[in-house]
Amino acid sequence: MESEDLTVGLDIGTTKIVALVGNVTDGSIEIVGIGQAPSKGLEKGVVVDIGQTTNSIRKAVRQAEKMADVNINSVYAGITGKHINYLNNTGTVSINRSDSVIRKDDVSRVIETAKAMQQIPPQSEMIHIIPRQFVVDNQEGISDPIGMTGTRLEADVHIVTGASTAVHNLTRCLDSLNIEIEQLVLEPLASSHAVLSSAEKELGVLLMDIGGGTTDLAVFKKGDIWFSKVLPVAGEHMTNDITVGLQTPLKVAEEVKVEHGTVFLDEDEEDKKIEVATVGGDKKKRIPIKNLAKVIEPRVEEIFNLTFQELEDAGYRDLIPSGVVLSGGTSLLKGIVEYGNRHFDIPIRRGSTPEDIHGLRDVVESPIYATSVGLLKYSVESNDYLRNGRKTINRGETAISDIFSWLAKFFRK
Ligand SMILES: Nc1ncnc2c1ncn2[C@@H]1O[C@H](COP(=O)(O)OP(=O)(O)OP(=O)(O)O)[C@@H](O)[C@H]1O
Ligand SMILES: [Mg+2]
Repeated sequence: MESEDLTVGLDIGTTKIVALVGNVTDGSIEIVGIGQAPSKGLEKGVVVDIGQTTNSIRKAVRQAEKMADVNINSVYAGITGKHINYLNNTGTVSINRSDSVIRKDDVSRVIETAKAMQQIPPQSEMIHIIPRQFVVDNQEGISDPIGMTGTRLEADVHIVTGASTAVHNLTRCLDSLNIEIEQLVLEPLASSHAVLSSAEKELGVLLMDIGGGTTDLAVFKKGDIWFSKVLPVAGEHMTNDITVGLQTPLKVAEEVKVEHGTVFLDEDEEDKKIEVATVGGDKKKRIPIKNLAKVIEPRVEEIFNLTFQELEDAGYRDLIPSGVVLSGGTSLLKGIVEYGNRHFDIPIRRGSTPEDIHGLRDVVESPIYATSVGLLKYSVESNDYLRNGRKTINRGETAISDIFSWLAKFFRK
């Protein structure tokens, strides 16, 4: 198999690591390898033990290599955690040539200016810089200014930053496995490539990836990301609540949650009872499923409340007519969509794997794989330009890759 045809997505989650190998033909992806290992060494999306994380990644990567019969030496790796932040900024340059025609290097220049203008917080570094729109002279809303004439070019950009320590620790895990990072990709940005339609992104939508350790939020508008935030609360917290609420060991609490967990009981389930193992004994007790729902509900409510509060604070609450799309393992919780729709005045749906993904569809269909499938799609959809030009990029070059990937999108239109 030619290595140029392969792309690898590596989702380094709090509960599991997933490596997906995709074979790309004419832009369509066939998944030819999957490796998955329980995640050890991460807390709330962030590496806290490099040795353990490296071991977990190694297991997932080796499995995927074996299945696809390839060597993996570079990946698109997801990054998340509370340390993620964003800034929106504007840069301006003048076009001084006699013909006033805007060229590719003017676009690079204006993006660089937008980047330089903005103070990246101390001990942080840039992960993405994504142009949202260009303004040529006074004409706003331009997606691709190349070839237009004007004397003043302005760019509005979305910059995603992460704490340097978190970025370096993740990089070190992959370095020690001799795996190059083609690009670090903000996890909700990756997931969005798997579960959001372009119409939703154009109109305005919130992606909510509720995983094990974090709930990753991203708002898309006019086709691009406008807002991103990572909340340090998700499925693991629910499991902990069950441990306390039902007095069960952690492992049992997790099983009970996945098998019976719900936030929305149908009338005929009101009196249903479930069997739960108790702490320190083989004994099982029967408890009404209602009690389980009562333990889970406040956590679900908290996650939605925190989410909408963040949106409100950032001024995006009224900018998402397409509503909310859920992904991540916790989006599988029974009744979560119904609960959200009933309590919040906004349409909510569960995301699903895109139609154009082939191979192992039945495996990757679960929203648990939205990030890893999204990483594969991101690698194809965002790097057409780079694929034709230069294959490998470094993290330091992310800015340029993002700009041209973004432009490539418009060249194709
Ligand atoms: N059917 C289910 N009902 C409820 N919760 C579920 C179900 N299936 C999985 N989960 C929960 O989903 C969580 C894992 O989700 P996911 O695989 O998206 O997380 P992750 O990517 O490892 O973590 P993160 O993105 O937070 O770093 C676990 O807490 C698990 O209990
Ligand atoms: Mg995840």
